[in-house]
Amino acid sequence: MTNETATSASENPVQRLFEPARLGSLDLPNRLVMPPMSRNRAAAGGVPTPLMAEYYAQRASAGLIVAEASSPNQVGYTYPDIPGLFTDSQVDGWRLVADAVHAAGGRIFLQVEHGGRIGHPDTSGLIPLAPSAIPLPGYIHTPNGHGTPPVPREMTAADLRDTREDFIAAARNAIRAGADGVEVHAANGYLLNQFLATSTNHRADEYGGSVAGRIKFVVEVVRAVAAEIGPERTGLRISPGNPHNGIEVADADELFPALLDALAPLGLAYLHLAYASPTPLFAALRRRWDGVLIANPSNPEAPEADPIPADGGLAAAARILDAGADLVAIGRPFIANPDLPERLRTGAPLNPLRTDLPLYGGGAAGYTDYPVIGASDTQPVPA
Ligand SMILES: Cc1cc2nc3c(=O)[nH]c(=O)nc-3n(C[C@H](O)[C@H](O)[C@H](O)COP(=O)(O)O)c2cc1C
Repeated sequence: MTNETATSASENPVQRLFEPARLGSLDLPNRLVMPPMSRNRAAAGGVPTPLMAEYYAQRASAGLIVAEASSPNQVGYTYPDIPGLFTDSQVDGWRLVADAVHAAGGRIFLQVEHGGRIGHPDTSGLIPLAPSAIPLPGYIHTPNGHGTPPVPREMTAADLRDTREDFIAAARNAIRAGADGVEVHAANGYLLNQFLATSTNHRADEYGGSVAGRIKFVVEVVRAVAAEIGPERTGLRISPGNPHNGIEVADADELFPALLDALAPLGLAYLHLAYASPTPLFAALRRRWDGVLIANPSNPEAPEADPIPADGGLAAAARILDAGADLVAIGRPFIANPDLPERLRTGAPLNPLRTDLPLYGGGAAGYTDYPVIGASDTQPVPA
């Protein structure tokens, strides 16, 4: 879909959300995307479970689901109970998920996330790798509670090669598992974002320094993944302006456009902007990207602490569609409302997000037990 397709759709931005769209070789029934949200419920060995398959299948009415971050290798694990995409058991687990989503009529990409400096030996058994030996500020979640972030080891040329290969293998595994595609995670402070950022990339080699140096590894990884599984099955997530996890990109207005100039000719399935708002940088990126643009509008200040917006995110969605997004990702409302598109389309009341249960980790409670319309309009879930 190009801008042309987007503008030929309804002039009412909210109505546009419920119109079909094309993404790569997929036909989407609506323009609402469920963005990746880690729920830390993988079984031992990072294996996706039947419960995860049920959770995603319940949300199959999304135009597109992008599943939670999965690690391409052992050292890339961020937090406890995150799934992986590098063993046969993990592929079998993801196959359960992809099959369940498809059987329910949905479409699913898997997100590949290497944590870089966001990792801990108590979680992965390994010292994390990063562009530079600069630890994450603050603390990190480990199986033993809050831990001190370790000083990561600066990646060597061999590490870069191996990591690129691991992204390629993870993408191949996602397709082997039956997923419709892969989202490369270069947002929110994880490894690929660490290469882009001036605060985390102090390398003296050709992968650091200038804008051209700091985008180099991300461009190589995305190109390699697209070459392996096809650009129409490859998406990229970035988060310009999101300072989470000690990220500062001092020259963001130069770096992100340069990144898109390098990647736009590939014809990727989509570009996904996390924590998007209609800023001049958003407009500049929109102008440079004639492929599908997914925007996830949210407040980067306290995204996980905020209650979900009363309108389910419709006003923010309308603003970002007006600013040129093709598809809109809405996160936390999808956790609480498995049938979010139908509720937003009909104006049905929304289930609140349960605050008495953890988002990260646990079982079915607060995960697969949110009611769909019909159940909820007579029996609201306790908040
Ligand atoms: C519980 C939770 C887990 C998340 N996990 C991921 C993740 O695995 N990968 C990612 O790129 N973003 C992740 N995010 C960020 C979301 O994709 C989204 O950008 C954020 O929630 C803001 O959108 P919202 O206000 O619509 O929820 C997560 C957010 C939440 C709330």
